Amino acid sequence: MDIARTPSTPDGNIEMADAAVEPKAPPEIRREDYTPFAWLVPATRLDFALGLEKTRVTATLEVERNPAADVSPTIRLNGDGLELVSLKCDGGDCAGHMMDGDDLVVTLEGDSHTLEIVTELHPSANSQLMGLYASGGMLCTQCEAEGFRRITFFPDRPDVLSTYTVTMRAPKKDFPVLLSNGNRVRMDDDGELLTAEWHDPWPKPSYLFALVAGDLVARTDHFTTMSGREVELNVWVRDGDLERTEHAMESLKRSMKWDEETFGREYDLDLFNIVAVSDFNMGAMENKGLNVFNTKYVLADPETATDGDYDGIEGVIGHEYFHNWSGNRITCRDWFQLSLKEGFTVLRDQLFSQDMSSAPVKRIEDVRVLRGAQFPEDSGPLAHPIRPDSYREISNFYTATVYNKGAEVIRMMKTLAGDEAFRQGTDTYFDRHDGEAATCEDFVRSIEDGAGLDLTQFRLWYSQAGTPKVSVNLTHHGDEAILELSQNVPDTPGQSGKKPMPIPLKIALFDRDKGTHAGEQLIVLDKASDTFRFPGFATKPVLSINRGFSAPVSIQRDIPGDELVFLAATDDDPFARYEAMQDLMVAYLVSASKGDLDEETRAAKQADIVRAIGRVIDDEAIEDLMRGELMSMPSQTYIMEQIDEADPARIFERREELKAVIGRELADGLRQLYQRSEKLPYSRSAEAKGARKLKTLVLSYLVASDPQGASALAAKQYENANNMTDRQGALMVLTGVDGAERTEALLDFYNRYRGNPLVIDKWFSLQAMSLHPEVIEHVKALAEHEDFTLKNPNRVRSLYMAFAANPHGFHTESGEGYRMIADLILELDPINAQTAARFVPALGRWRKMEPGRSALMREQLERIAAAPKLSRDTFEQVTRSLG
Ligand code: PHE
Ligand code: ZN
Repeated sequence: MDIARTPSTPDGNIEMADAAVEPKAPPEIRREDYTPFAWLVPATRLDFALGLEKTRVTATLEVERNPAADVSPTIRLNGDGLELVSLKCDGGDCAGHMMDGDDLVVTLEGDSHTLEIVTELHPSANSQLMGLYASGGMLCTQCEAEGFRRITFFPDRPDVLSTYTVTMRAPKKDFPVLLSNGNRVRMDDDGELLTAEWHDPWPKPSYLFALVAGDLVARTDHFTTMSGREVELNVWVRDGDLERTEHAMESLKRSMKWDEETFGREYDLDLFNIVAVSDFNMGAMENKGLNVFNTKYVLADPETATDGDYDGIEGVIGHEYFHNWSGNRITCRDWFQLSLKEGFTVLRDQLFSQDMSSAPVKRIEDVRVLRGAQFPEDSGPLAHPIRPDSYREISNFYTATVYNKGAEVIRMMKTLAGDEAFRQGTDTYFDRHDGEAATCEDFVRSIEDGAGLDLTQFRLWYSQAGTPKVSVNLTHHGDEAILELSQNVPDTPGQSGKKPMPIPLKIALFDRDKGTHAGEQLIVLDKASDTFRFPGFATKPVLSINRGFSAPVSIQRDIPGDELVFLAATDDDPFARYEAMQDLMVAYLVSASKGDLDEETRAAKQADIVRAIGRVIDDEAIEDLMRGELMSMPSQTYIMEQIDEADPARIFERREELKAVIGRELADGLRQLYQRSEKLPYSRSAEAKGARKLKTLVLSYLVASDPQGASALAAKQYENANNMTDRQGALMVLTGVDGAERTEALLDFYNRYRGNPLVIDKWFSLQAMSLHPEVIEHVKALAEHEDFTLKNPNRVRSLYMAFAANPHGFHTESGEGYRMIADLILELDPINAQTAARFVPALGRWRKMEPGRSALMREQLERIAAAPKLSRDTFEQVTRSLG
């Protein structure tokens, strides 16, 4: 659909005729149009008469003219589907007011006024989970990015900071706990009605407002900050979940300590509350002093949570806590600056998790996420810079690009500056902008000034989308190694002819015979192409490049297989070693699935891989967690990304075949590894985690070569498991194989964990992710299961996100997988637009696929686009995806 034609251009009949058949494109918001708001709102009072069916909100706003902005005769208060009950200006009638779409525009004559606005809400009917909504009998809010406008009329933009005083009145028997931001200043209990008043002394934007009312219990603890402030910590959950909050609380205390030590950041209130809710669109939310979390990122015990779940909780608890400085004390001027808080905070949580466990393994995991989620985004129709230039619906820009590439960009600044200078840069940022709504430019300038760097050219990382491709060529002449590098930043929608960017590359040159190098070096490629010379090499060295993944680029080089085998066995940089193993397998799988290799070459390349993995199995110097990374096969999705016009069925075949070869050739070594790992008792130590990772990895290789034997072993692991990592791992392997073991284990798992929604989510996911030939039929049946509902985002994602990420099911040749996801989007869109829109990118990959599937995917996108009524969220994603 031609969206350029549909916005409100004043050309009469044609436009109106068009509007009747085509949905009207929501307006495009542009970064360059930013202007400061004409009014300040120094103080906001909110009074809530709470009820699940009906809540009445009285908002009192102190407003005054903003001396830094142009004078305006009106104030625009954003609304979204609000019912205005009454409006007063300075206690009486207003000089004038009108509705403009969903917004309320009030005429204000003087310089300062008090506005009183009454609205009425229906939380139980709010299925979008934005604004005030009900979840399992409790009430909670979600205001980022533009949810506050679903509660009351307000300048709902992040550069309007206000202090909030909140009164909540609610029937005590349903809502014995009433929470909001800041500190509780009053609590009255007349036996039936509870009245609580909260005050947050820190001025904040409306997106950080939160309240929670419900029947909750808390795990309480304390933290003493570096300057001696006593902080009360609470993790609020529903009765019965309390025992599963210990890890969250410990993670919180570790985060608080780490931020003091690493960034010099101290907490600034006497109270820090976390509330777990089971209906939540995202992972968690950093509301000032009152973080609201998806239960998935709070609740854990060994019986129900995997090692991955534990790590996720630690990371997200850290992430939201770190936002208190990078996001709350310093917030964003406008939503184009989202990466200012998100990119930086992701980097902070990654560094925290690195310090809490095995740093190299965490780095590998983070790179895997980047490549799995962000690289495809950057090479597809939804590509955008980490600081976007325009949007129609900001919810669509909470992306891997803004978050994860944003973190990589700041990590590069740290690499360029060095740790100490980088810290001076962040200190400068926090000092200079505390209390402000800042921009990415403010951040970069602070790092420049504090760290003493020139980031003029580096700023291109903020404005240019697309993953740079770096071509590498190493030659040898006389006693010199000569490294020729060139870069190319691919065209992306709306951007072409890009400029070279500074790319920091950590490298080492290995002596092939000794297996050592003379030290890691940092080189910066800042031109389209450049040559670096390294004297002192009698023979040609082996190049290790982009060590530690020092830059978020894609390295292109023709490296001989024997050099990859060498690096996989000898590189002292764990990431580079992992990379060599991956390259070895990716190179083979790409050419094998394209059909480029004859039988003999295929066998020889398989043998190389088998030998390399064999060496990893035998190497006693490696820790098991790392061993697991080195032995892991690249994902189908990642391989698909490396091929134009990819055919998922062939990739699947070749990949399964390689697994079987490895399982067969290395059966003895794998079984020994399994037996050794089996001996370790359950604990959360790195050693025990490593052992658990290896057990399931071994099963997944063995099952490819010997389905019967491996199923028996998996069934045994399933039965004997005393923790969820082992049980889920075994079940994952079993779901791919037909047989009694599969049926029994699935039934047992369901019955065992019936009452636990987070574990039942796993039950849905495992089946949707499985390699079983009838996965599509399974997903269809699960959608009809009595426990399936479109109302709960975790449940929707557990079935359909897992399915959309499973190429084996989603890319079924008939196109049925695409149709299922399109059906889901259409059905979910009116219920929860934000969640629905998140399924569109899977279909948006059509350009990368072989022609048959490509056409089928496009057809489904067109079908969605033709729907009579679409949310802004889905409309934007679908039109961008069609390109
Ligand atoms: N700001 C949240 C985070 O990254 C994410 C979020 C966005 C949550 C929008 C809810 C809604 O920590
Ligand atoms: Zn965040």
